[in-house]
Parts: sequence; C-alpha cells; structure tokens
Amino acid sequence: MRKKITKAIFPVAGLGTRFLPATKSIPKEILSLVDRPLIQYAIDEARDAGIKEFIFVTSRGKGALEDYFDGAPQLEQSLRKKNKKGLLEELKRSTMDSGEIVYIRQREALGLGHAVWCARRLIANEPFAVILPDDVIAAEKPCLKQMVEAYENTGGCMVAAMEVPPAMASSYGLLDVKEDMGALLKVNGMVEKPDPQDAPSNLAVIGRYILTPNVLKNVGTLKKGAGGEIQLTDAIAMEIANGEDVYGYRFDGQRYDCGSKSGFLQATIAFALARPELHDELMDFMVQTVGQSRAAQ
Ligand code: UTP
Repeated sequence: MRKKITKAIFPVAGLGTRFLPATKSIPKEILSLVDRPLIQYAIDEARDAGIKEFIFVTSRGKGALEDYFDGAPQLEQSLRKKNKKGLLEELKRSTMDSGEIVYIRQREALGLGHAVWCARRLIANEPFAVILPDDVIAAEKPCLKQMVEAYENTGGCMVAAMEVPPAMASSYGLLDVKEDMGALLKVNGMVEKPDPQDAPSNLAVIGRYILTPNVLKNVGTLKKGAGGEIQLTDAIAMEIANGEDVYGYRFDGQRYDCGSKSGFLQATIAFALARPELHDELMDFMVQTVGQSRAAQ
C-alpha cells in the first residue's frame, strides 16, 4: 500500500517584486481574486486532495498571512447577531484548526528549492505535496486531487505540466519527455529556464508537485542554478539521474499565473464572471469598455 499524501508545503517566502509597491506591506498571497485571497484557493485545493498538515514557508513581512488563518471571534459574533450565515460559513473555511498549520521561516529568498528544503525536518521520511499559491487552477476536479489519484498508481515524483507557447517556454521549468501516455508523461530530464535553443519541449512545470523525501536530500547538495537561485527543478532532475521515476501530469483545468499582473487580472475577470451576482454588471461594463477602447484606436 502506497503511503498517502497528507502533508503539503506552501512556499510563500518570495519577495513578490512584480506586485510592488502593493507587496511592500501586503503578502502577495493575500491579494484577492474577487474576495478570496490567493492562499485560500490553495488551501481549499489541498484539503480536497486529502492534505491534513499545511506547512507554510514564510519570511519577514508575512504576518498578515498568519493572521488570516486565525479565528476572528468578534467578527463572528457580530455576523451571528446579524444572522449572516453565508459570511459566517466563508469565515469558517478560512480558519485553520490549532496544530493543522505550521509556519517556518526562510531567512533569505535563495530560491524555490531552498524554500521547500527549509521544511525538511517536518517532512521527515514521507512523500509530500508542494503547492505554489501563485498558480491558481480552476478545474472541476481540483488539480492536486487529479495528481494524487494518478500518483496512487505510479509512485515516484510527479509535477503538473502544461503546454505553453514556445516563445514563453524559457520562463519555465521544461520537461524532456521520454514517453507520452496521454495525461501522464514519463520524464527523461528537466531543465529550469533554459536558453530557447536548449528547450527540450514546450511542456512547462506548473506549481503543483508530489515529491519523495529524497528530493529534499538532493536540494541539500545543490549549487545555485538558473537565475542564481537554488532550483527545485534541479533537485527533481537529480532523481531522474539516480534512476528514479519522475512523471509529468497534464491536468484538466485552466491555470492562471497570478504571480504576473496580466495573469492576476485575467483570473480576476474569470472568477468574477463565474459569480452569478456579478456576471451581468461586469459583462455590460466589459462590452462597453471594449467598444470604447476599439473606437479610440
Ligand atoms: P516567484 O518566482 O514567483 O518569485 O516564486 P516571487 O518572489 O514570489 O515573485 P517575484 O518574481 O519577485 O514577483 C514562486 C514561488 O516560490 C516562492 C514564492 O513565494 C512563490 O510562491 N519562493 C520563491 C520562496 O518561497 N522562496 C524563494 O526564495 C523564492
């Protein structure tokens, strides 16, 4: 019987420079799509996939994130008095039970691989998931759940994968595919942000991973990689070199890169249009705005 994936690491210690000046005082993960912070989407997806322990790798200035998961007794009392059941339910979803969530610090933003490595003692000897909250994935069956189900048959390491336009490929970790089995891809190699002429494919790694504890051992031996950072991709690639199985998983769903302004805005529009109470007004506004913008060109 394969060990169930019950722990997930959420690396949130990055500097969020693409959203400055907002991220000078607000963690990027608290920025909201309509009214729910990015981090809430990540937590909901993890819960749906069976995660029971939530490990946050944070850094200086991320206090608002920790507060977000606390109970809010005064607010709850006031909502209860006013019989606002829907809002109370929303609040309940955002509160984590004591002991369910752990925060550790990454002292310096040395890269994603290093951030994940900071959680090594909490992971000990179990397979685990990693979720990057910047990548928001709208899907009927949540992306991590799709991967956990596939992992039950494969074991090994698994990364979420999707085709990106070739011109964008060099901004991602890319897969060298040995065998394309449809949703599942057996991987021969992985390379982080290669020069365009060295790109093995346009199949990019997206921010969902299922990893073996060995990957953390590998990180401990790594030197700085692409962009001068300790790269998680390099540690997973070492597993392939060691003869271990690594899979890409082409998930069903729409991914939004909420670490970029454009992706964040697209997600905001998509999630707002999916809300019946906002749909019509927003649609009217967009049609009008597009018309005006076209006329002005
Ligand atoms: P990004 O590459 O998007 O970096 O990190 P960033 O710092 O968050 O944002 P920009 O590029 O400056 O705007 C991808 C994920 O890895 C985490 C980030 O918090 C984000 O969830 N990360 C990155 C760390 O936790 N530590 C690091 O040293 C680097």
